[in-house]
Amino acid sequence: MSGSRFREVFYGDFSFYVFDGVYEPAEDTFLIADNLDVRYGERVLDVGTGCGVLAVLSAVNASWVLATDINPVAVKCAKVNARRNGVSDKIEFLCCDLFEPIIKEPVFDLVLFNAPYLPVEEEKPKNWIDYAWHGGRLGREVIDRFLAEAFDYLRHGGRILLVQSSLSNAEETLLKLRKRGYKTEIIDERPSFFERIFLIESIKP
Ligand SMILES: C[S@@+](CC[C@H](N)C(=O)[O-])C[C@H]1O[C@@H](n2cnc3c(N)ncnc32)[C@H](O)[C@@H]1O
Repeated sequence: MSGSRFREVFYGDFSFYVFDGVYEPAEDTFLIADNLDVRYGERVLDVGTGCGVLAVLSAVNASWVLATDINPVAVKCAKVNARRNGVSDKIEFLCCDLFEPIIKEPVFDLVLFNAPYLPVEEEKPKNWIDYAWHGGRLGREVIDRFLAEAFDYLRHGGRILLVQSSLSNAEETLLKLRKRGYKTEIIDERPSFFERIFLIESIKP
């Protein structure tokens, strides 16, 4: 671990190191994890992988997982966790802003995003960990960029699982997805600190 400071988090039989500067799995992570239904052989894109928890869980059934994060410390941490949990042969990692370097082809069966969804006054994140929750002034900045692009990477019948909060207008997300023709519903929700968090599932026609 060469000097890195970290905590350890468990989910079922899996364990994850969480380096300083990386989002520690919380209610929103577990909202997706508890509803994760990766079918055998599927291809999964985990956007904003953090410590890699959803990518690792997906890799059990998936044939291939692409895990991305804008935070280089998160990508490093997720790589370590893929190795520790014995699934590194199935996961590739990219440090990037959303889909930026990924070839625009509809190859994924499932796209996951536990998005940064909090409304924040500061214009820009101040450090890497801020990227985990910094959703811009209305909490929608990253979510809206994600919604504008995700469609192009999903095959027909493919699903998106997106977590967001009542603080950043989940209704607007439902509306935007339905306008694009997705069959969209809230499939689970939970209370969080000052808000409710929603898990939105969308199926591409
Ligand atoms: C709420 S955390 C979720 C982390 C992990 N998926 C989980 O569920 O525990 C959001 C993650 O998205 C990443 N992120 C924020 N903006 C991003 C962007 N534009 N492109 C890629 N990743 C981003 C953050 O660095 C952070 O790791």
